Amino acid sequence: MTNRPELPPEIARRRTFAIISHPDAGKTTLTEKFLLYGGAIQMAGQVRAKGEARRTRSDFMQMEKDRGISVSASAMSFDFGKYRYNLVDTPGHSDFSEDTYRTLTAVDAAVMVIDGAKGVESQTQKLFEVCRLRDLPILTFCNKMDRESRDTFEIIDEIQENLAIDVTPASWPIGVGREFIGCYDILRDRLELMDRADRNKIAESIEFNGIDDPKLAEHVPAHLLEKFLEEIEMAKELLPTLDPASVLNGSMTPIWFGSAMNSFGVKELMDGLATYGPEPQVQSAEPRNIAPEESKVAGFVFKVQANMDPKHRDRVAFVRLASGHFERGMKLTHVRSKKQMAITNPVLFLASDRELAEEAWAGDIIGIPNHGQLRIGDTLTEGEAIRVTGIPSFAPELLQSCRAGDPMKAKHLEKALMQFAEEGAAKVFKPTFGSGFIVGVVGALQFEVLASRIELEYGLPVRFEGSQFTSARWVAGEKDAVDKFVAANKQHIATDNDGDTVFLTRLQWDIDRVVRDYPDVKLTATKEMM
Ligand code: G4P
Repeated sequence: MTNRPELPPEIARRRTFAIISHPDAGKTTLTEKFLLYGGAIQMAGQVRAKGEARRTRSDFMQMEKDRGISVSASAMSFDFGKYRYNLVDTPGHSDFSEDTYRTLTAVDAAVMVIDGAKGVESQTQKLFEVCRLRDLPILTFCNKMDRESRDTFEIIDEIQENLAIDVTPASWPIGVGREFIGCYDILRDRLELMDRADRNKIAESIEFNGIDDPKLAEHVPAHLLEKFLEEIEMAKELLPTLDPASVLNGSMTPIWFGSAMNSFGVKELMDGLATYGPEPQVQSAEPRNIAPEESKVAGFVFKVQANMDPKHRDRVAFVRLASGHFERGMKLTHVRSKKQMAITNPVLFLASDRELAEEAWAGDIIGIPNHGQLRIGDTLTEGEAIRVTGIPSFAPELLQSCRAGDPMKAKHLEKALMQFAEEGAAKVFKPTFGSGFIVGVVGALQFEVLASRIELEYGLPVRFEGSQFTSARWVAGEKDAVDKFVAANKQHIATDNDGDTVFLTRLQWDIDRVVRDYPDVKLTATKEMM
């Protein structure tokens, strides 16, 4: 992050981020308010269709509505002030770690939402660890301050201790629960008052000459003011002050307190992301990294989503632009196949609607409709053979065999399974021996999701059944050694959905045996998507 050249203004104003949180902390509500302020929608209610389960329109599946979980990730763009925000939605359920991991490779920062009454919950912790792997800058929003919440110091301590990150208050809440009146904006010496009557209104903001300004007493009831002044003195002594460099290297998180439901604190958070959040960052790649200011366009696929619109069997590859200025109609090289692709119908995701992207810059996320050429991990460039790295595929932890309810429909099933494999929703293995498929996932709920999607999107009832195998490893090594190994272990060998050879195992013992008997063969639990 040091000694970076100044970015072209169009790139410098981009903020590409994800929200990480535990279910129910308020991610959906906060997203709505971002979009509301960003002018992407007229009224917050448009995102949360009335009477329906509480999901944004970015979620589209029946399953999600029924189960109240967010299975798919999508991207939304909106402007606020001078900035362009690209929000990449992370799948919320703990089962979808691989998908989530890849989503987080496409962002430069994360907003961590916690519930003021509950503090750091399990899913937040897990997602935080993933962000830490990449030293992603994190901004924290402590939500639901309109309700009974924990003591402010306690919340901050918990984050510092559980997540081992320095926390600096960007705002400080005044009053608790019913008595909560708003926050003091520490960074800008302002009092922000919450309007409980109008949930979509931007809070009233009053400027002061620091916390000693006697004018504060005109706006804050005496008993609350006294407590606030005491707390803020203590905070000054005990907590670090905001250091922008530490925020950017991921070792410090500023925290804002607010209430997404009441649109309170949201604007300050957005401003914080603009001021302290990172610009589009350098992307690691082979044989060289890609810098956002490079004039040539490069980007990579971090997500593929099929059947976004059940009426059109399209697939959309979500591409994070790593460099340059993209214009519609450009011809880009698909590095894996070395073929050129004319990108004629790229889409930008604006709240509820897709729109043709006439242009896009480094940092943006565009959707490219395609018929399956684009896979997760693929790199697109203006000709140079660069490959983005760091988008892993993990060996599935659960395997089941999958059969079509109607045996005549085996071919259809194969097509459906391959499609989901390309989305990254599952791994599909075709064993050398026997018919049928073995499907591998990271979390058990994914089998249910798959079964329901195959039925919904392909009209194909399927059965998942236990398999004799419990795990899979990719096979690597010199061709001769691998061939010999494969020939001698056919009953364990399968090919994955990319055509790569895997070794299906029943027990750890199987793996130990290979390590012992075939020293020239390597079994791996991850492979780079390429
Ligand atoms: P999620 O996406 O992180 O799962 O959370 P979501 O935004 O759906 O919010 C979870 C619940 O918390 C919702 O209530 C939502 O209205 C409520 N909520 C969000 N922000 C605030 C806030 O600032 N204050 C309070 N008091 N509540 C908040 P629900 O009853 O589950 O759904 P709904 O009936 O309100 O739609």
